[in-house]
Amino acid sequence: MTTDELRRLFLDYFRERGHTVVPSASLVPEGDPTLLFNVAGMVQFKQFYASKGEIPFTRAASVQKCLRATDLEEVGRTIKHHTFFEMLGNFSFGDYFKREAVEWAWDFLTDVVGIPAERLVVSVHVDDEESAGIWRETAGIGEERSYRRGDEGNFWGPAGASGPCGPCSEVHDDFGPEAGCGRVECDPACDCGRYIEVWNLVFPQFYQDTDGERRPLERRGVDTGMGLERLAMICQGADTLFATDVFRPIVGFIKDEVDFGDRGEADEVGVRVIADHARALCFAISEGALPSNEGRGYVIRRILRRAVVRALNLGVDKPFLYKVAGRVIDVMRDAYPELDEKREQIAIVIKSDEERFQGTLERGMNILSEALDEIVRGGGGEVPGETVFKLYDTYGFPVEITRELASSAGVSIRAWGSNGSR
Ligand code: ALA
Repeated sequence: MTTDELRRLFLDYFRERGHTVVPSASLVPEGDPTLLFNVAGMVQFKQFYASKGEIPFTRAASVQKCLRATDLEEVGRTIKHHTFFEMLGNFSFGDYFKREAVEWAWDFLTDVVGIPAERLVVSVHVDDEESAGIWRETAGIGEERSYRRGDEGNFWGPAGASGPCGPCSEVHDDFGPEAGCGRVECDPACDCGRYIEVWNLVFPQFYQDTDGERRPLERRGVDTGMGLERLAMICQGADTLFATDVFRPIVGFIKDEVDFGDRGEADEVGVRVIADHARALCFAISEGALPSNEGRGYVIRRILRRAVVRALNLGVDKPFLYKVAGRVIDVMRDAYPELDEKREQIAIVIKSDEERFQGTLERGMNILSEALDEIVRGGGGEVPGETVFKLYDTYGFPVEITRELASSAGVSIRAWGSNGSR
């Protein structure tokens, strides 16, 4: 099943069950200054849950453009992390509740897209007996495949400084013990790679204000989110997100351009980072989020520089990312025609920032390579805090990139604050 098919199947499934299909809200959230980027399908519906008055519909489904920059260091290193992604979601505002949400999620995963039921396990909030019971009745999932966690794992929200929130129940795909750490106590909370979260079913019941106070919601309901790329990975039997149909042409393009040959895993990580970041840049820039030195723009610039540093590390010293962006647009334009409309602007923005920083980043890369060579020749050690700081301050190297590149050479870094050298 292609990603395009999965997107369509999901929306059709919920349309047939009385949901209004709503287009993705913008990636740059409107009217919520506490969110730099849209992080979930429910963001455009925050007020629906809290509304006492009329709302246009009580069931909705969407495919939301999302950007999360919280796990930047994981991107490319794991099979499942990325920054930009599409979130499939169905929502109820004071309409159906846990039973339908669980029944439909199970039916969609096992029947519509055909994931073998025995591969799926769930997590349930420790106080949520009702959901545990529904999983048992609906899916035959008993205690041996149901993991109970408290608020730290099974409570979601609010998105931003305030908004709806509530307990949640997640569905995970279990790749089997051989795929993971092998510990007896390994469970879906372990990030060893055995489990991948597929779908999060949130049951918003409270409105949390900016002081952290919670009051019951006007319209409690359902807010679900499933990563389309993860679903595609599972349905396509791909071993990472980067081997799915939406990423393969982008990864292939990058590898051709850098003459990848049979380079090793560290360089694979670089290719994946570039592929992921190019997608994030295309979508963000298409909505007018431009690289700058503060707030949203800084996140964009940081993503851009991370990709440029990775390209330099693969031996590319000319503007390159803007070409990758062109490939991203080719792959995504049917689903997101707005990218094609902004093709030229996206290329200009990326290329000019690449040109502006490439020289500086290249000098930084030379400094880092020399430092790493010296450390490795000397039998080990860590990159000194002063070097890490200089790379950041003078050469624009995000600290996590210095750490990632150092770690590929088997070297750790000293954060410049940790020895008082800041
Ligand atoms: N809003 C929930 C999430 O993002 C579904 O996981």
